Amino acid sequence: MKTKIFLLTCLAAAFTLKAAAQEISIDKGWKFAIGDSTQWASPTYNDANWKPINLAYDWESQGYPNTDGFGWYRSHLVIPSSLKEKSYLKDSLRITLNNVDDNDEVYLNGQLIAKYGGQKGDIKNGNYGPRSYTIAANNPAILWDKQNVLAIRIFDTGGAGGLYGDKFTLSMADLMDPVSINTDAEFSYGDNNSLNKSIKLVTTSNYAYKGKLAFKVTDPENGTVLYEKTNDADFTAGKPFTYSFSIARLEKKSYVVSYTFTEEKSGKSITKTDGTPYVLTPYPSSKPKINGADVYGARPGNPFLYLIPASGKKPLIYAAQGLPDGLKLDANTGIITGVVTKKGDYPVTLTVKNNLGSNTKKFTIKIGDIIGLTPALGWNSWNAFGLSVNDERVRTAARTMIEKLSAHGWNYVNIDDGWEAEQRAASGEIVTNQKFPDMKATTDYVHSLGLKMGIYSSPGPRTCGGYLGSWQHEDQDAKTYGDWGIDYLKYDWCSYSEVTAKNPTLDDMKKPYQVMRASLDKIPRDIMFSFCQYGMGDVWKWGAEVGGNSWRSTGDIEDTWKSMSTIGFHQIADGPYAQPGHFNDPDMLVVGKVGWGDNQHNSRLTPDEQYTHISLWSLLSSPLLIGCDMGKLDKFTLGLLTNDEVLAIDQDALGKEAHQAIKEADYQVWIKDLADGGKAVGLFNTSDKYQTITLNRDENDLKGLTKIRDVWQQKYIITSGNTYSVKVAPHGVMLMKLSK
Ligand code: GLA
Repeated sequence: MKTKIFLLTCLAAAFTLKAAAQEISIDKGWKFAIGDSTQWASPTYNDANWKPINLAYDWESQGYPNTDGFGWYRSHLVIPSSLKEKSYLKDSLRITLNNVDDNDEVYLNGQLIAKYGGQKGDIKNGNYGPRSYTIAANNPAILWDKQNVLAIRIFDTGGAGGLYGDKFTLSMADLMDPVSINTDAEFSYGDNNSLNKSIKLVTTSNYAYKGKLAFKVTDPENGTVLYEKTNDADFTAGKPFTYSFSIARLEKKSYVVSYTFTEEKSGKSITKTDGTPYVLTPYPSSKPKINGADVYGARPGNPFLYLIPASGKKPLIYAAQGLPDGLKLDANTGIITGVVTKKGDYPVTLTVKNNLGSNTKKFTIKIGDIIGLTPALGWNSWNAFGLSVNDERVRTAARTMIEKLSAHGWNYVNIDDGWEAEQRAASGEIVTNQKFPDMKATTDYVHSLGLKMGIYSSPGPRTCGGYLGSWQHEDQDAKTYGDWGIDYLKYDWCSYSEVTAKNPTLDDMKKPYQVMRASLDKIPRDIMFSFCQYGMGDVWKWGAEVGGNSWRSTGDIEDTWKSMSTIGFHQIADGPYAQPGHFNDPDMLVVGKVGWGDNQHNSRLTPDEQYTHISLWSLLSSPLLIGCDMGKLDKFTLGLLTNDEVLAIDQDALGKEAHQAIKEADYQVWIKDLADGGKAVGLFNTSDKYQTITLNRDENDLKGLTKIRDVWQQKYIITSGNTYSVKVAPHGVMLMKLSK
């Protein structure tokens, strides 16, 4: 009884706070149970003994560690008719669940009103993400102004699970819901030194929208409005409104552009903001230059493949002195192949020439037991295409990598989930689905370019996306990967929870990775092994011993500041475990056009947040796996991914990870030791205002490091005295290298 009164008080408090708003928060007063029962949907079911749960956090962190599978959330709440009365359109109620991990069915007073089961409607297949459901306001399931029971059935495929995030609300569907401001077109640079772009107002409803579009450019440093213009804007489903603008090119920083459409009759409006891109990476030189890591590891007796990363005007001619016996270089492509049988460290001198000159670099080939001496640099299909990856998209990624990125060391082309069939061959062999007609041919193509090929699987019966996993077929799958020529395996935990102990011990957690490790060891190939179990059991403490080249230290990343910064700035406990051949993996990059499916959008990170993302991940010695549609790389994204001095921080041969040296409310300083005795330093502004950050070289072991280089701009900075102050943009970074 007591509990009940308490619950009602909480609800009343939550409601009065937001009552004036057009939406009410429903993030309080939830109860939770692990398991599954049809009765739990019922409004009369007695959930008095269920435990309260907080929707700000996943269920793992609230007393249900390592729990995958079904869980139910229940809430008793009043749905006020004032919500409907105050709304402009009164026809549907909207429930926003931000986010669901992974799939859900929503019951209102016992009736199923919405469900999300990603793949084929099955609650067990699908993905983490936000949900927004609408139901007709006259649906009898809604009890206006009375107690309602909202019951949500969740299925978690693996890792963190439940309802957790920053927005759980009830609101009425709005006139602006079907409207979006599409800002995905690229900013282009005009001849007259201008920055140009077109945006579109689009709708999916039948309504004819008539109103004004306000366009504004603001300098975030001082709030000055640089441009402001309002235009009439009318559009319908068949006829979007396009607005093109041209602004004089601005200095090297990001300005805030806002677009607000206000509908005439209702007064309703919708706003979207954009950041102007600015490229810091110097314009690529035509002179020949060898880039990439200083070391490369391979195992004796296995096929060797290394593409010398070199930039400069083509054609380039390559040479190598001191290659170990068994290797040969193709002087026209820069591809080194062969097999080395003898273990050892082989110092090599690489040379690249073109008609403008030549460049040499000292390089060490280490033939031994450890591969992946520096973090992998490549592309992975997931953040771009999700389960809709296909052969053509992978080939486009490979082609683009060769045209635009491999000169800087990028070399893995990794297929994530979505390539597998739903049933094995009669022999038990894994087969591809129809999107990948011939995996061997695709791999041969990738190899012919000098690049490497990666694939994905799960130790459970199914992958996170519901495709076939490797459970009880590990040897067979490793052999198939070997036959295809796979060079990298990402191995996800999903659905393994169904075949292991309910509360897995550390040994249970290690087991599937040990089993696959043993299977991969039987294959005469160097296959990078990437664990993906989201950091369970402090994987960084045992990932190397179990034979992982990298291990995910977090849940899945999203293209938001909240997600990227929470992940990036929390890589602290795992930091000391990074070492050559074994790295923490804070998940893949979210720059460029991302989308996790068929539709891609520009990363929702601002340009400054994207500089932070790449800088921080490089300081963290993270594998850098580009997660965008490679067919649509824009100039800004290319600048982010082709800065050799930034990449050199990630690829540093010492293999250490940066540590958080200073953490203040508004800024952080991260420092990474480098092989040459220098240090890479990131000054991160974590606030949403411009800030001056000061670095004191008498502190944090920086004494004696007199030279400061602005790594993004590749310029030395003139300083005097031991403190150096710099203005940093909101959520932005100043990345530096300090040396003697
Ligand atoms: C998990 C992983 C993702 C991706 C998907 C594929 O969510 O964390 O990186 O591999 O599975 O289904």
